[in-house]
Amino acid sequence: MARNTLTVTDNRTGKQYEFPITDGTIKAVDLRQIKVSEEDFGLMTYDPAFMNTASCRSAITFIDGDKGILRYRGYPIEQLAEKSNYLEVAYLLIYGELPNKKQFEDWVAGITHHTMLHENMKKLMDGFHYDAHPMGMLAATLGALSTFYTDARNVHDPESRRQQILRLIAKVPTIAAFAYRHSVGRPYIYPDNSLGYAGNFMSMLWKMVEVRYEANPTLVRALDVLFILHADHEQNCSTNAMRSITSSDADPYSSAAGAAAALWGPLHGGANEAVLRMLAEIGHKDRVPAFIKEVKEGHGKLMGFGHRVYKNYDPRARTIKKLADEVFAVTGRNPKLDIALELERIALQDEYFVKRKLYPNVDFYSGLIYQAMGFPVEMFPVLFCIPRMSGWLAQWNEQTEDKETKIARPRQIYTGAVERPFVEMSARR
Ligand code: CMC
Repeated sequence: MARNTLTVTDNRTGKQYEFPITDGTIKAVDLRQIKVSEEDFGLMTYDPAFMNTASCRSAITFIDGDKGILRYRGYPIEQLAEKSNYLEVAYLLIYGELPNKKQFEDWVAGITHHTMLHENMKKLMDGFHYDAHPMGMLAATLGALSTFYTDARNVHDPESRRQQILRLIAKVPTIAAFAYRHSVGRPYIYPDNSLGYAGNFMSMLWKMVEVRYEANPTLVRALDVLFILHADHEQNCSTNAMRSITSSDADPYSSAAGAAAALWGPLHGGANEAVLRMLAEIGHKDRVPAFIKEVKEGHGKLMGFGHRVYKNYDPRARTIKKLADEVFAVTGRNPKLDIALELERIALQDEYFVKRKLYPNVDFYSGLIYQAMGFPVEMFPVLFCIPRMSGWLAQWNEQTEDKETKIARPRQIYTGAVERPFVEMSARR
């Protein structure tokens, strides 16, 4: 009968080893048994960028990159985008099940209760330079929250974790909106708890002198759907940062600041900003073939294309493309859409992109919607960070309860100098 094991022969010694296979993986530490001598450290795997390493067990998000499938806790992303709302999805990610009516009401009330920022946080944000990037302000302010909520260090206390989860999900839109208002020199607008999560965020962004700001309901719903689509994406760069930082039992505010910093990079959540800059640079649909040619010659990348996991159309991009029509019906069509559609049309039939399985990802169309809704490009990664907070927190909560969790500490292959004696300065060349 077939055994669920892997047999390895070490050709250096002729010895054979048998390792159990569980869930399609072998344990990397099992390989340490493979040695050429007693003093030998044992075999390691070399996997920069975790191309083929599962770093944890997780029951939160499932992706089949070849088929273009994304599910949160088993629910297809398309169904959640159509039938759910962001706060319900956040609950689902964190607690594993869709909330019943009572659970949902308590959850929304808990989050609504925590939307205000301490006045000293506001003063702290005032200190940023007038042209500070809102994502830099957001990351720094998230980190600063740890100095206000010192109880957050009790990471092994489930009640404390619950409290920090409510605070972080509640406060991230307020910080994001304050960062935006600071960057345009407008007074901060306090939360309006009579509005929903996305509607309140829009009020804090755009309210001027009116008593109550109510955004267009189509745009509120569109932003809420975008929040659902961005809420979690299993072990991506920023989530891995969150898990890595919290593995030392750091508090979730410090860890979320680190995760936000990871998200900001143009290869990750900063890609939506990069897409809009790219579309502006191309300028006109007629210049698309020349741009594609440059990319194929190795001059830059087609931003918003390609993914480490998806080797098919990103299902989030498909939903966003549909959402764009609803938004443009209210805001008017973003003229850059024609350039984006032409890029997609040409790239999807070009051998370079087809061979490498490069398809539009979540960031390709989201920026066009954000821009049509009135967001400046600097706010795009911020808009990604707001909903990803629930994913980071779900992953943190799961990791903290996982008995297998240990401090993240990869190995290295040392390539530096062998031991050598210290050289006095007078003797240095
Ligand atoms: N444009 C042109 N060529 C590309 C692109 C692209 N966007 N992406 C990958 N390639 C090429 C790459 O040059 C390589 O070619 P070759 O085999 O000839 O060396 C091949 O495709 C494989 O790419 P890779 O860099 O090994 O793939 P990766 O898994 O390390 O990188 C990625 C994934 C998302 C960083 C990359 O596709 C990329 O930089 N895309 C553009 C940035 C972007 O849109 N990022 C958002 C990702 S989705 C949301 C998120 O994660 O936040």
